[in-house]
Amino acid sequence: MSAILEVENLVKKFGEFEAVKGISFAVEEGEIFGLLGPNGAGKTTTISMLTGVLPPTAGTARIGGFDVRTQMAEAKTLNGLVPQDLALYPPLRHSSGCR
Ligand SMILES: Nc1ncnc2c1ncn2[C@@H]1O[C@H](COP(=O)(O)OP(=O)(O)OP(=O)(O)O)[C@@H](O)[C@H]1O
Ligand SMILES: [Mg+2]
Repeated sequence: MSAILEVENLVKKFGEFEAVKGISFAVEEGEIFGLLGPNGAGKTTTISMLTGVLPPTAGTARIGGFDVRTQMAEAKTLNGLVPQDLALYPPLRHSSGCR
């Protein structure tokens, strides 16, 4: 198996505050991976860096070999994100069966 997601020493600072302190992990192709941690651990910040919402302060990650710092457009062809809260306009929620 080969890693579809490789995260290497990923760091995010908001000013002086280090929200993500050099996280590293790999997810194999076909693997179901849960990223768990207490409130404020940095999960959303990490996912934001992996999806192009926030630029990393340091470190990097590769999705299917594409570097999220330099090849986000290519990386986005391979990832998808379901956010914590529904982000659909009401008519779309209705037609998709969501309330
Ligand atoms: N834009 C921001 N500016 C400053 N600090 C931030 C910002 N976004 C997040 N933080 C801080 O970074 C830390 C990590 O936040 P994050 O939202 O990534 O945690 P989380 O693991 O997703 O928490 P939760 O389980 O509550 O969703 C927290 O201390 C948070 O207050
Ligand atoms: Mg969160």
